[in-house]
Amino acid sequence: MAADDVVTMEKIVSLCKRRGFVFPSSEIYGGIGSSYDYGHYGVLLKANVKSEWWRALLRERDDVVALDSAIIQHPRTWEASGHLAGFTDPLIDCRTCKLRFRADKLEDAQCGRKPSKHPGESADCDLTDARNFNLMFQTTVGPVQEEGSTVYLRPETAQGIFLSFKHYLQVSRKRPPFGIAQVGKSFRNEITPGNFVFRMREFEQMEMEFFVPPSEAGTWFEFWTAERMRWYVELGIRPDHLRLRPHDQDELSHYSSATSDVEYLFPSAGGGARWQELEGIANRGDFDLTQHAAFSGQKLEYVDTASGERYVPHVIEPAAGADRAALAFLIDAYDEDEIEGETRTVLRLHPRLAPIKAAVLPLVRKDGQPELAREVHRSLRDRFQVEYDEGGAIGRRYRRQDEIGTPFAVTIDHQSLEDRTATLRDRDSLAQDRLPIAALPEELERRLRAPWRSPKLSR
Ligand code: GAP
Repeated sequence: MAADDVVTMEKIVSLCKRRGFVFPSSEIYGGIGSSYDYGHYGVLLKANVKSEWWRALLRERDDVVALDSAIIQHPRTWEASGHLAGFTDPLIDCRTCKLRFRADKLEDAQCGRKPSKHPGESADCDLTDARNFNLMFQTTVGPVQEEGSTVYLRPETAQGIFLSFKHYLQVSRKRPPFGIAQVGKSFRNEITPGNFVFRMREFEQMEMEFFVPPSEAGTWFEFWTAERMRWYVELGIRPDHLRLRPHDQDELSHYSSATSDVEYLFPSAGGGARWQELEGIANRGDFDLTQHAAFSGQKLEYVDTASGERYVPHVIEPAAGADRAALAFLIDAYDEDEIEGETRTVLRLHPRLAPIKAAVLPLVRKDGQPELAREVHRSLRDRFQVEYDEGGAIGRRYRRQDEIGTPFAVTIDHQSLEDRTATLRDRDSLAQDRLPIAALPEELERRLRAPWRSPKLSR
C-alpha cells in the first residue's frame, strides 16, 4: 500500500474550490452541512466520468440497455425492496455534546467536547442507547397531506431497474444474460455525511442490474468484479491505490449472497489515508424480482418461447457512485512538481476525463495573435471541449490549465502569423511541438485517443 504518496484531503478541497470544481452549497446563507455544488470544471469532469461508464457498458457491449427512471416511485417499491423496514443505521446521541453518531462507526466519530477522544472513551460522554433511524427522505405527493400520499426519494437507482424489468423483456428483445443500466441522483439522510463529496445526502449513482440464468450467477459475478476493477485502472487510477475486498458473511446486505467492494485509498480529513468503498459488486440472487412479483402480483420471470423454460433471473449488480469516482480520479491525478524553481500543481487526469481537452492561448494580446488564436479555437470547438484564454502571462495561463488537468495547450506566437504553425504543449512531458495549424484537429484527435499511462506509475 502506498499511503505515503496520497495527497491530503485539504489540498483537494482547496483546489476544487479555487478552480471551481466543487464548492459548498448555499454559501451565502452559511452553507448547509455536507451539501456541495459542482462548478464548471466539476460538471465537465463528472460528465466525463459518467460518459466513460456509459461507454464501457453501452458502446463497448451489446448486452446492456439504458434507463432513466423516476426518482419518486410507487411507495410499495420500498416495502417490497426491504428499505422501509430495514434501510436503517443505528443512531446514538451524546447527551453532553448533543452530537449524533452511527453506533457501528463510533471509531470514526469525535465527541464535540473532547475532540481528541472517541465517544464512549471519554468520561464526559453520555451516550444514549442505539435506535434505528431510517435513511429514506420522506415527502408527500399532491396538494393535501393525507394517508396514502407519503412517498420517498429513492435511496438507490437500482429499484427503478427492477420495476422496469418486465417492460424491457417485452420491448428490448433482450434475453438473459443482459443488463439494464442507469445513472441518476439518489438520496439518503446520512447520519454522518462528510469527507467532502465522499458521503453526501444527495449523490449520483451509476448502477447496472445484470440479469442472468441462475446457474451462471457465480461466473458473471466474477466477470463484473474484474471488469469494474479494470475500468478504474484503465482510466488512470494507480493499481496500488485500489483493492478488492470481499464482504464477510455478517456484513452482507439482506439481499446479497456475495458482495465485493472496490476500495480506494482515500485520504481522510485531518490526515492519513484509509481504504474505503468506491463501488460494490453484489450477487443479489432473485431477491428483488421475487419480492416485486409478490408485492405487485405480476409475473417477473423470463420465459424462453422456444423451449418453454421459465425462471426468475438472478442479478449481478455493479453499483458505483459518480461523485466518489470523480473524487477518486481527482485525488489520484493530483501531483506537484518543480518547474524553473517553482512548484507546479498539476492534475494528471486521463485525457478522456479531463474537463478541457485543449487550451488555445495567444502568446501576447497584440499583433494579430488573439485573432488567429480565436480562429484556431473556433476550428477545434466542434470536436473537442476547448477553452480560449488570453489574460495574463503565458506561464500563469499554463499553470492554470495544469491545475484543471488540461492535457494540451495550443500556443499562437509571432511565428504563427508568418507560417500558420502553432506549438502544442503536453501537460505531462512538457514537450512543445511545432506543427501546422491545419494539422491540429487530427493531431489532437490522435493524441486524445492514444493509450495513456500516468507518469506517476513510472516513479
Ligand atoms: N444498489 C446498491 C447500492 O446502492 P451502495 O453500496 O449503498 O449500494 C453504491 O451504493 C455506491 O453509491 C457506493 O459504492 C458509493 O460509491 C455511492 N454512494 C452510496 N452512498 C453514498 C453517499 N451518501 N454519498 C456519496 N456516494 C454514495
